Amino acid sequence: MEKKMREQEGKMLQNYHRADTDLTERFEFRSIHQDEANQAVLIEQICFPPNEACSEKNMKDRIAMAPDLFLVAVDKKTGKIAGFLNGLATDECAFRDEFFTNAKIHIPDGKNIMLLGLDVLPEYRRQGLAGELMSQYIIRERDNNRRMLILTCLQSKVDMYKKMGFSDEGISDSSWGGEEWHEMSRVINV
Ligand SMILES: CC(C)(COP(=O)(O)OP(=O)(O)OC[C@H]1O[C@@H](n2cnc3c(N)ncnc32)[C@H](O)[C@@H]1OP(=O)(O)O)[C@@H](O)C(=O)NCCC(=O)NCCS
Repeated sequence: MEKKMREQEGKMLQNYHRADTDLTERFEFRSIHQDEANQAVLIEQICFPPNEACSEKNMKDRIAMAPDLFLVAVDKKTGKIAGFLNGLATDECAFRDEFFTNAKIHIPDGKNIMLLGLDVLPEYRRQGLAGELMSQYIIRERDNNRRMLILTCLQSKVDMYKKMGFSDEGISDSSWGGEEWHEMSRVINV
């Protein structure tokens, strides 16, 4: 039973994962380096309005605590980050805003990941980069035996995350930036 579910999940992942050779030729996908923290801070400021963006301090704390949960796509031509997806590990199953502000609650071998930001610079958008980042993140954390990915997003991004295999769990407890957030999750290991 469990084997069958795993096979089904594997198939879903294969179907979803575009294995986009064009993107893997253009970008290097890897964990962030500490000396790239300023780039990540700037990209966050470009991608999100001030009430939603992660602060410089929180971003740097997060990169210091959990660089391996920070997947970046580096443009091979420029050597600079074009986009990233980051999170913290935990045994908790529901999102709370403290994940945004306190990287110390990260538990390295936590069974779930709270995803905290998906950012693609404007000049790299609509080419599949966010989808590729998510696919590669899922594959990596699946291999790390994580059970579930959890995130919050605005209504306008619910369909995007559904395409990435997430389910909408309804309105989250989060009041980040004074807005209403949907909580979404995806099981990656059954
Ligand atoms: C949202 C964002 C990450 C998308 O990055 P991207 O690399 O352009 O996305 P992709 O090209 O991989 O698109 C994946 C899917 O997401 C959807 N999508 C892309 N941008 C979207 C947007 N701005 N709003 C809603 N859906 C969007 C599309 O349906 C697309 O699927 P399709 O190609 O089958 O049509 C990027 O626009 C961004 O950084 N925006 C600002 C920060 C942000 O809003 N992050 C998400 C927070 S929850």
